[in-house]
Amino acid sequence: MNSSIEEIEKETGYKEIFVTIPGKLSLKEETALKNLFLKYPEGELAYDLSDGQMTVFLNTLDIQAFRDDVNKIKINLNSSSLSSGLDEAINKILAIRSYGLKSNKRVYIGYNKERKVKDRKSKELNRNQYYYTNGNDFSEKNTELPPEFENKIICGDSLEVLKQLPDNCIDLTFTSPPYNFGLAYEANADAHYWENYFTKLFDIFTECVRVTKYGGRIAVNIQPLFSDYIPSHHVISNFFMSKKMIWKGEILWEKNNYNCKYTAWGSWKSPSNPYLKYTWEFIELFCKGTLKKDGLRENADITADEFKKWVVAKWSIAPERNMKEFGHPAMFPEELVARVIKLFSFRGDAVLDPFNGVGTTSLIARRFGRRYLGIDISKEYCEKAEGRLAETLL
Ligand SMILES: C[S@@+](CC[C@H](N)C(=O)[O-])C[C@H]1O[C@@H](n2cnc3c(N)ncnc32)[C@H](O)[C@@H]1O
Repeated sequence: MNSSIEEIEKETGYKEIFVTIPGKLSLKEETALKNLFLKYPEGELAYDLSDGQMTVFLNTLDIQAFRDDVNKIKINLNSSSLSSGLDEAINKILAIRSYGLKSNKRVYIGYNKERKVKDRKSKELNRNQYYYTNGNDFSEKNTELPPEFENKIICGDSLEVLKQLPDNCIDLTFTSPPYNFGLAYEANADAHYWENYFTKLFDIFTECVRVTKYGGRIAVNIQPLFSDYIPSHHVISNFFMSKKMIWKGEILWEKNNYNCKYTAWGSWKSPSNPYLKYTWEFIELFCKGTLKKDGLRENADITADEFKKWVVAKWSIAPERNMKEFGHPAMFPEELVARVIKLFSFRGDAVLDPFNGVGTTSLIARRFGRRYLGIDISKEYCEKAEGRLAETLL
């Protein structure tokens, strides 16, 4: 738990202080609060106010000057809500025990970087962090996605289409593989045994790894094949690890759909063979070469609130309700794609979905200012994807 908070702090560059503001602030109070924080250099101190909670983002601060400024506000406004919130903030900041000093300012983030990193690094070396990626031969030289593939929906077999892309040109892949390259989907009518399924899937994923930039990510939504007792989330994760991708983590997508069967026939209320019920799926996350992705801070569009909520890796999102309208049996809900895209990519990044279906990934990528490439083998689905993209341009 501590290390994940530490990691968030390291990544954001801020320590977060949470303060309750009872009641709604008046316009005058809001302006006073805004002006208070404007006095401090951007990148050193910031705040976010939503739903009665103020988050103070703390990097470096002259706490005495901050106290004086707060006192002035308290005298001017005589506001109990804001005053009590700011007092609470000061008390919480004062209660932080470990900080460094630079000029007159306390430094809350990275003050003991040297010592900490030294310890952490040597520990990591001893443990051999993500040992399974040792000896990878990923090139660190990234390329941009060629213009003929940029903002395109391409109808074809991903294996063939991806082969036309250069190495290291995709920032983020988000996809959900077909349950079987033969089941229920419009274009591939023949069923395969699971071994063939995984062989074909892994050929495509091998291409996905190749086209991913150094520092790029692959996020795969997987529903384990529970009824065939195949833990496909593990099988697929093992595959990516064998390709020397770093397993960054796993998001549990709670769909809250309780319409599953209770037992195998004849085993109701008996240990003989109870079915386990699942209302969730997984998103497995992989990074190429490094966990840290290059990108300009101004191109990060995730809000403080979203970040706080979404780094807790259990997302409760209802399944897509309009699948009938689009005639596709397994569409992503838009919210799921929006979270993956905003949490793991920057504005302007290239986002790929090699099993694009009716284009949810492409649509949301474009909505948030990313470039997209969507590939699907079904002409019908590609046309629907084009239709959805065209509609949102109107
Ligand atoms: C689970 S669906 C993806 C749905 C998509 N996430 C959406 O929101 O519409 C999987 C898709 O993979 C496509 N597909 C199957 N084999 C393929 C292949 N070899 N190359 C490209 N697409 C393929 C299917 O046509 C199907 O639309």
